[in-house]
Amino acid sequence: MKHLHISDDIQLKLDDVIGRLIAILGIRGSGKTNTSAVILEELLKYNMPLTIVDIDGEYWGLKEKYEILAVGKSENVDVKIEVEHAEYVAEVSISKNVPVILDVSGYLNEKIYKLLFKYFKRIWYLAGKFRKPYMIILEEAHEFIPQCIKTDLKEVITRIALRGRKRGLGAVIISQRSAKVEKDVLSQAEILFLHKVVHPADLKVYKEILPLPSKDVVDMVTALNVGECIFYYGEFVNL
Ligand SMILES: Nc1ncnc2c1ncn2[C@@H]1O[C@H](COP(=O)(O)OP(=O)(O)OP(=O)(O)O)[C@@H](O)[C@H]1O
Ligand SMILES: [Mg+2]
Repeated sequence: MKHLHISDDIQLKLDDVIGRLIAILGIRGSGKTNTSAVILEELLKYNMPLTIVDIDGEYWGLKEKYEILAVGKSENVDVKIEVEHAEYVAEVSISKNVPVILDVSGYLNEKIYKLLFKYFKRIWYLAGKFRKPYMIILEEAHEFIPQCIKTDLKEVITRIALRGRKRGLGAVIISQRSAKVEKDVLSQAEILFLHKVVHPADLKVYKEILPLPSKDVVDMVTALNVGECIFYYGEFVNL
C-alpha cells in the first residue's frame, strides 16, 4: 500500500488522494506553501505527474531532489515559454508523465490568465483521453477561482476540481483569502489543511467547513502557530 507521509500524525493513502480536491488555507505566512511542498514531495516520490502553478517562484527548490521541468518566465525556469506554447507543455506533461513547475512570476496578469486557460483546457481534454492520475496545484486560488465572478479560466479550473475525478484529475487549491475563493469549489474539498486565519469572513468559512461548535473552531484556530494547521479529512488531527 502506498502512503503519503505528511507528518508524524498524518498519513494519507495515495489512492485516497488521486482525483481528490485538497484545500490549503490560511493567512499570509501561516505555512501554506510549506504544507503544499510537503504534500508535493510525497506525490513526487511516487512519480505522480502534476503541474504546480508557481505564482511567486517558490517551488523550484523541489528540482534539487526530483526531476521536474520548470517552464514559464523567471530566472529559474529551464525553458522560457509564451502563451502559444502552453498547450504543448500541457501535452508533454500529461502524456509523458513529466511533473511541471509553471513559474508565472515573470508575466503580467493578463498573460498569466491566457496561458493558464490554454494550459488547463488542454489538461482537461487530454485527461479525458488518458484517464490516469494527474494533479494540479494552484497557489493564490482566489485570483483564479474567485467567488461570484465568472471567467473562462475559472470555468475550466472549476471543472477540473469538481468533475476531474473520473479522469484521474485531482487538485490542490491554496489561498490566503478563504472567503474569496468560489464556495462551490471550496465546499467540495475533501481533504483540508486549515492554517491560521484572523479575518472574520475567513473564520466564518472555517466554521462552515468544520462540524464543530463555532466557539471550538475559534479556539482551535486562534491557538495555531506558523506551520501548524487543523487537518480535516472526515476526522480531526492537529498538526
Ligand atoms: N512547519 C513549519 N515549521 C517551521 N517553519 C515553517 C513551517 N511552515 C512554514 N514555516 C516558515 O514560515 C514562513 C512562512 O511559510 P510559508 O511561506 O509556507 O507561508 P504561506 O502561508 O505560504 O505564506 P504566503 O501567504 O505569503 O504565501 C516560512 O519562512 C517558512 O519557512
Ligand atoms: Mg505561500
